[in-house]
Formats: sequence, C-alpha cells, structure tokens
Amino acid sequence: MSSAQPALRPYLPEDAAVTAAIFVAAIEQLTADDYSEEQQEAWASAADDDAKFAARLAGQLTLIATLESMPVGFASLKGPDHIDMLYVHPDYVGRGAAATLIDALEKLAGARGTLVLTVDASDNAAEFFAKRGYVAKQRNTVSINGEWLANTTMTKSLADAAAPGASS
Ligand code: ACO
Repeated sequence: MSSAQPALRPYLPEDAAVTAAIFVAAIEQLTADDYSEEQQEAWASAADDDAKFAARLAGQLTLIATLESMPVGFASLKGPDHIDMLYVHPDYVGRGAAATLIDALEKLAGARGTLVLTVDASDNAAEFFAKRGYVAKQRNTVSINGEWLANTTMTKSLADAAAPGASS
C-alpha cells in the first residue's frame, strides 16, 4: 500500500455517487461495534435518495479527501459551526484522512470567525473527536427511519487557535 498523504479538494457535483458509496460502506463496515444491523441500515438509508443526499453535501461546505487523486473520505460543515458529516472509506481508514478533513474545516470555520464548533458524534467517532479536543456535552437519541440511534454532542473552542500570537 502506498504511503501517500491525504490531499483535500472541494466537493464537486460529480462526487455525489462516490460520497454516497463512502457513506454507506463506512456505516456498514465501521460501526457494527456500536450499532445494530437495523440501526446501521436506517443510518445508511440517508443515501437512498441520491438527489437529496447530493443536495445536502452541495448545500454545505464539503471537502473531499483524496489519496492519489481518488476520493477516500469527506466531511461537511453545516452553517458556520456544525460538523454535519465525516466519513472515510473502510479500505482507507487509519491514514489520517479524517484528521486532515477536520483540521481543514476547523481552519475554515475559524477564519470565518466561528468560536465554537459542534458535532453530534456517533459512538464510534466520539474517541476520534475527543482526541482532537472536542468535549462531550450531551447524549442524544435520534430517530432515523424508524430506528433510535445514540450520539453525543461535542464542542471544541476555536478561540485559542484564533488568539493573537497563536502559532497557526
Ligand atoms: N476510535 C478511536 N480512535 C480513532 C478512531 C476510532 N473509531 N478512528 C480514528 N481514530 C484515531 C486514529 O487512531 C488517529 O489517532 P492518532 O492521530 O493518534 O494516530 C486519529 O484518530 C486520526 O485518525 P484518521 O486516520 O484521521 O481517521 P480515519 O480516516 O480512520 O477516519 C472515522 C475516522 C471518520 C471515524 C472513520 O472511522 C469512519 O468513517 N467511521 C464510520 C462513520 C462514522 O461514524 N462517522 C462519523 C459520524 S459522526 C459525524 O458524521 C459528525
């Protein structure tokens, strides 16, 4: 396997199919420790309606992570301060794609003046966000397509990074 570093680019309309495929594969293959098969199916069903899924990504600030120009993951910022989606294809996890995506969204949000970012983190992603300085605030149970799924609202202050004299 190549040791190439993930690169980033903006979401394009032609990424609709590949992002939907990454979304479904990530849920099916990476979340079974925390969610039942019924819950995974309900979660993944958000990509059943191609046009609606594409419109959701196109309507947000969505970045694509690539390895050797191939899309392997994506993340989206909804409004000024909410990370809506973060998904990496199971064949390419553990190579820093998610970290690269979230670092970039934090920088973009911070540059726009956002002071605090929020995310409703799935149980399998909560540790990823905790490692990156997100603090758990509240447990939620959300109804998706007839199934109840738990997640955790987490927040991260960007104020330190934006402070005068901060290194980046
Ligand atoms: N549990 C604990 N630590 C993790 C996990 C995990 N599930 N995933 C990544 N990490 C750690 C890595 O070990 C790494 O640590 P290091 O910096 O100390 O080496 C660090 O987080 C960065 O990892 P990446 O390689 O950047 O993460 P990756 O590209 O593998 O993607 C992700 C992580 C997005 C959670 C992926 O596993 C995934 O798609 N999961 C299923 C879908 C999902 O639950 N997405 C989030 C839904 S919530 C939302 O969308 C807002």
